[in-house]
Amino acid sequence: MNYILGIESSCDDTSAAVLKGTAIYSNVIANQSVHNAFGGVVPELASRAHQQNIIPVVETALHKAGITKEQLSAVAFTRGPGLLGSLLVGTSFAKSFAYALGIPLIEVNHMEAHVLAHFITDESKPTNVPKFPFLCLTVSGGHTQIVRMTSHFNMEIIGRTIDDAAGEAFDKAAKILGLPYPGGPLVDKNAKEGNPNAFAFSKPNIRGLDYSFSGLKTSFLYTVRDRLKEDPAFIDKNLNDLCASIQKSIIDTLMKKLVLAIKQTGITNVAIAGGVSANSGLRAAISELSKTGLNVFIPEFQFTTDNAAMIAVAGYFKFLKKDFAALNVTPYSRGI
Ligand code: KG4
Ligand code: ZN
Repeated sequence: MNYILGIESSCDDTSAAVLKGTAIYSNVIANQSVHNAFGGVVPELASRAHQQNIIPVVETALHKAGITKEQLSAVAFTRGPGLLGSLLVGTSFAKSFAYALGIPLIEVNHMEAHVLAHFITDESKPTNVPKFPFLCLTVSGGHTQIVRMTSHFNMEIIGRTIDDAAGEAFDKAAKILGLPYPGGPLVDKNAKEGNPNAFAFSKPNIRGLDYSFSGLKTSFLYTVRDRLKEDPAFIDKNLNDLCASIQKSIIDTLMKKLVLAIKQTGITNVAIAGGVSANSGLRAAISELSKTGLNVFIPEFQFTTDNAAMIAVAGYFKFLKKDFAALNVTPYSRGI
């Protein structure tokens, strides 16, 4: 069985992972706290932090996996989409490492990898991997998509956001409430103590399977702004209810189109992926679907937000097909 090193550097997490086939051996993630004070990722600071982190993160991943670099069979890296400066760090590292070791280089699409994270296995416990065809709601800080997967690399986008991503909606709402970046996990935490029906916000009315979150964000902003005029302590007094209500609005919107996609396609295997799939409310809403006879797949927490294990598993499937990248490959910031 072959050892694959995965490298992920598309946004603000530097990550390296080692898989043996699809089995996880290590998954090391260095988060960048440098962005917290800015309310969002600062691209130039992200690239610099990736440069500082990449070598120690790879060394730690190899060490935790208990292997030497000479035992690797291939290096898989995120080619895009993402921040160009950040992607360049991972791409350059992966190229040099593969070249120096004389092993194949494999390029991976970040959005496909989020979905393929469902195929990571663990030798210490059984894993229930999705059967094809399946639908996946991929929800992250930069993307919101419903995709139809008919094989590991046959991914058809059947719905997508026309403006903000769901994670962006969480992060922007959090910012309005004065919470630090990334706000999604904090909204989730506060929402657990709040009333989801305390506040109502405008619901998008977009045709088909597409999404829109910009109107919801504006509606949330105006509600908070107007109520603050009446009472300057409005946020402090209602933080948990505001978090629970905005979370409910985002999840209701996500679920409505997913349920429509299930009806339209007749596909009974349904998965969620991406950073927002860590959200407890979304995980509960998806679990509810299993009561209607659907097969539901929810990723482990460590594989929801950006990580290199998902890059390594996507790389392994490409390795089996001998789908290798040339050394002159360049990253792309936008893509599917
Ligand atoms: O997949 P990811 O790590 O990066 C991108 O590819 O964008 O997703 C990051 C996004 C951020 O917007 C973050 O706030 C959101 O996922 N997120 C959450 C939760 N954990 C992460 N949103 C809501 N609830 C969570 N528990
Ligand atoms: Zn991501």
